[in-house]
Amino acid sequence: MKVCRKIDEIRQHLQADKTSGRTIGFVPTMGYLHEGHLSLVRESLNLTDRTVVSIFVNPTQFGPREDYHQYPRNLERDINILQKLGVDYLFAPSVEEMYPPGYQTYVEVTELQNKLCGRSRPGHFRGVCTIVLKLFNIIQPDWAFFGQKDAQQAIIIQKMVTDLHLTTRIKVLPIVRDKDGLALSSRNTYLNPQERQAALVLYKSLQLAQQLFAAGERNATVIKQAMIDLIQQEPLAKIDYVAIVEMENLEELKEIKEPALVALAVFINRVRLIDNIILSLKEKKS
Ligand code: PAJ
Repeated sequence: MKVCRKIDEIRQHLQADKTSGRTIGFVPTMGYLHEGHLSLVRESLNLTDRTVVSIFVNPTQFGPREDYHQYPRNLERDINILQKLGVDYLFAPSVEEMYPPGYQTYVEVTELQNKLCGRSRPGHFRGVCTIVLKLFNIIQPDWAFFGQKDAQQAIIIQKMVTDLHLTTRIKVLPIVRDKDGLALSSRNTYLNPQERQAALVLYKSLQLAQQLFAAGERNATVIKQAMIDLIQQEPLAKIDYVAIVEMENLEELKEIKEPALVALAVFINRVRLIDNIILSLKEKKS
């Protein structure tokens, strides 16, 4: 695996691949890799000729009071993991490489960016879109892989690609969970054992929503209230939002129609966690 720190370097390598007609798959990450990330990497390895992974903790997507400085980092460990999987290129630029002094260009998906997580994290999706577009311009991938874990992010990136006529195709892959249902996240490392246990309430509330839906409930307010009641029984949990929205435009639904996205953000003490499911009659048993 080639590890590139510089934009020119990764561009040069990829140029050779492209002239030989090889397809390029790309998995953008902020590192501290877990099985959720690796599911995207494996898909890219299967689907494309060359796989590029990026690791970059992107400062512009963190708010001033958020965890940019604490965000877990371990590049050596990540390099080992990616090498074993057979990844071709790791792009791990510095902040100065991506945002040199005087940097001033940003990308916004103006409506979708203000919904759900965007309400409590102003500027977050502007930072995400900006870095993803910059990385797409550097790598020019045929395919890019995102996780359903960050459902709003995946929807916004797809919208950006459509609106800006980008040629990269986006593939969104299912959420990878621990055995007990907790969605894998680099931020789970912030949780102590008691908090880790309390965090199960996110998935439990999503399962409750799915059960109510499967039993015939179609009133979004009823399902949301049941979820809220369940989460409020957990003393360490504080709800940021619980929402049932249309997949495409993230508009709140009153009456549930498939496919509906049930998404939530919950603080477990200081740690903000997100999770979601897509309501479906077919997945009754999950
Ligand atoms: P990061 O949180 O590192 O996630 C990188 C990719 O892994 C995202 O597409 C995310 O949805 C996916 N992912 C994370 N946890 C997952 C899980 N449990 N199951 C499946 N996929 C999972 O998302 C970002 O980084 C950044 O915002 C980024 C897109 C890299 C831009 O900075």
